[in-house]
Amino acid sequence: MSRIRIFDTTLRDGEQSPGVNLNQLEKLEIAKQLERFGVDRMEAGFPASSKGDFQAVKAIADTIKNTSVTALARTVKSDIDTAWEALKGAEHPSIHLFLATSPIHMTYKLKKTPEQVMNTAVEMVSYAKEKFHEVQWSAEDASRSDLDFLAQIIERVIDAGATVINLPDTVGYTTPSEYGQMFKYMKENVPNIDQARLSCHCHNDLGMAVANSLAAVENGATQIEGTINGIGERAGNASLEEVAVALKVRADFYPYTTGLKLTETKRTSDLVAKLTGMYVQANKAVVGRNAFAHESGIHQDGVLKHASTYEIITPEMVGVKTNNLVLGKHSGRHAFKDKVKELGIEVSEEKLKVAFEAFKQLTDHKKEVTDDDLFTILMEVQTDTTSVNKYQLEMFQVQYGTANIPTATVLLKTPDGRSVQTACTGQGSVEAVYRTLDELITENLNLVDYQISSVGGGKDALAESHVQLEVNGQTVNGRGTAQDVIEASANAFLNAVNRYMIRQHTQENNVVASET
Ligand code: KIV
Ligand code: ZN
Repeated sequence: MSRIRIFDTTLRDGEQSPGVNLNQLEKLEIAKQLERFGVDRMEAGFPASSKGDFQAVKAIADTIKNTSVTALARTVKSDIDTAWEALKGAEHPSIHLFLATSPIHMTYKLKKTPEQVMNTAVEMVSYAKEKFHEVQWSAEDASRSDLDFLAQIIERVIDAGATVINLPDTVGYTTPSEYGQMFKYMKENVPNIDQARLSCHCHNDLGMAVANSLAAVENGATQIEGTINGIGERAGNASLEEVAVALKVRADFYPYTTGLKLTETKRTSDLVAKLTGMYVQANKAVVGRNAFAHESGIHQDGVLKHASTYEIITPEMVGVKTNNLVLGKHSGRHAFKDKVKELGIEVSEEKLKVAFEAFKQLTDHKKEVTDDDLFTILMEVQTDTTSVNKYQLEMFQVQYGTANIPTATVLLKTPDGRSVQTACTGQGSVEAVYRTLDELITENLNLVDYQISSVGGGKDALAESHVQLEVNGQTVNGRGTAQDVIEASANAFLNAVNRYMIRQHTQENNVVASET
């Protein structure tokens, strides 16, 4: 069976999802989990796009050992140089260059002739090759490009040193048979095609990204690009967990293997959902809450008689645990440490102490602490960048009743150490708290999105809230957990404001290149 390489772009194309912006520590946690999941390559970002992206790519390149780390670059020397600066510490660095080849993009976006595009691509692939052993070149909008032009430019960039040729369906426009035909055409019409690996990269605008990726593989692609949970620009990218499980379950039809450890699927999906705030719908294939639920009596009866009657994927295959009860009030530091180890999460001694305190506080209110709770606590602690100069909630109180106006009183510690307090009303408790916080915080705030969900089930489950705020006109996301929904909501709100403060402090998002 031939081996298909899995190229994950959650941290680059996935991070381009509207409303997603991960900080460096969050990116690092996702990168470590992708390494555990066993992806062959991870695209860590687009270093020339901002200082923050550069630093995150560098941190990932310096940390990840068993997966090739790659970065996106336009076909311009300065992007290639910046990518090299970010990636040179990596164990297996590679670069991903892209240039559009469709008439629409060349005419209206690039304002270049096909000949100019060809020359630029060849020149920049040769330039990148001086630094990188592995050079991937993508023909952006390949699926709407002229096949003959595509064949010619591919031949030339392979001669210039490209080792991977990616043919993206940038706008999610193609169909499985059409996309498959494009790969077949290149296999048959590019004389040196065997000197490079062919890669597919599909967007999901028409809901066909996974099907298109599999069609590409049937026609010669040996690398599949995609994201965890299918997040990405617009309707997202091909969902890697769906691709991986399809290849596994239909191994009779697809004679290919991957290096993925499928039992890490669920955890990878959960982590990405938690840190991006993009939760998967209940009926999402492979990782949705209902993916293994059998509702109808006939189905339940069949599964009880023989699981294979209605179950083609087992929960165990993708690491879904049904029985993950772990610690309680009487669990001590040792049991806690052992459990963290068992979860496979590396935490410094200092952060372990903070996590243990949070765990102890939780056990005051919650009898049984599950793997999911623990994972939530650990990720909160691991990705917290707001230890200095932050707004801190010292106390809040909400009066709510169906017969009176919800009123919140908040006592807040400001970054310069003052304690400030006020009270406001709202239509509901959350609005009352948010209006009070808004009153106390000097920044100009606008709430764009608000979500609340529970971690696992049960009446005493942890509440998790995600918000998106505009702070002084800049969009920032925030995340907060607590046992109470109002407290979780307040924490998420403050977390967004504090992230903004940190961002201002480090000038992290100083955009260098915005035009592609
Ligand atoms: O969809 C696309 O074309 C891309 C390229 C940058 C490869 O993401
Ligand atoms: Zn893309």
